[in-house]
Amino acid sequence: MTTITQPRWAQTTTDLNGKTVLVVGGGGGVGEGVVRTLLASGATVVATGRNDERLKDFADRVHDSSLHVATLDGLGVELDDKAAALAAEFGPFDGIVVSIASWGEQGNKPLLTITDDEWKALVEDNLTAVFRVYRALTPTLAPSGILLQLNGLSADIPFPGNGVVALGAAAGKSLTRTLAAELSGTSLRVYEVILGVVRTRARQLAGVDNRGWIDGTEIGTHIAELVAGTSPLTGEVLHYFIDKATGPVTTPPQF
Ligand SMILES: NC(=O)c1ccc[n+]([C@@H]2O[C@H](COP(=O)([O-])OP(=O)(O)OC[C@H]3O[C@@H](n4cnc5c(N)ncnc54)[C@H](OP(=O)(O)O)[C@@H]3O)[C@@H](O)[C@H]2O)c1
Repeated sequence: MTTITQPRWAQTTTDLNGKTVLVVGGGGGVGEGVVRTLLASGATVVATGRNDERLKDFADRVHDSSLHVATLDGLGVELDDKAAALAAEFGPFDGIVVSIASWGEQGNKPLLTITDDEWKALVEDNLTAVFRVYRALTPTLAPSGILLQLNGLSADIPFPGNGVVALGAAAGKSLTRTLAAELSGTSLRVYEVILGVVRTRARQLAGVDNRGWIDGTEIGTHIAELVAGTSPLTGEVLHYFIDKATGPVTTPPQF
């Protein structure tokens, strides 16, 4: 009989009991898988989104007493107050995962046809929001906490039809790596994790699925190991999780 060995990231064995992780965008497609794994690891999880109804649906679906949901808008004027309130109620956080992005309203559009308003909205949603979330929430980390951005491969490669989304991804990667360098003398750890295509609920509901794509829960396994400090990549800032079979690595894929 052949024994099929599961890769390490297929299922979490990490113990995060006593740890609290905030997942900004935790109610989103990728966030959901991450949240589920962190809960399965024993963590208390605070998942945020901008839309109250969507968050309630999400909480009902996940149905776990260790899950808390809260609205948090990275562009909101009340962001600093909300961050302080979350920290007072649940913090300090052992991990903060930033899993936010927006495709905007314009659909696929060549770069030179993007209007000023579309440009502004895309840059604000994909870059300014990330910066503001970092500024508001980094002070809420526990002394050995981790700040981790989930990002897409468009940070590294041209993305025809979605040039401003790609620009936000590339700039977000730069921002995260700079923050990692600036905080390198502290006990905080900062990570940039660049993902390949992820199996999400929204895609599955739309009938679009591929078992070869990464599952959000596998990303969660990697994050759980980083929070615990047990990942082989603990000392590396930049990670690529593109290929399900290979798992998280530090080298970018070759095109
Ligand atoms: N899906 C993929 O295949 C894939 C592949 C590679 C990388 N990624 C990366 O994974 C991350 C998450 O993507 P996703 O597919 O999960 O997106 P998603 O399903 O659209 O979820 C995004 C989440 O972020 C929240 N959000 C958006 N803008 C925000 C803002 N300004 N302030 C606060 N929260 C905000 C959303 O809240 P609302 O629900 O209230 O709008 C939602 O909870 C992104 O960085 C993306 O680049 C995804």
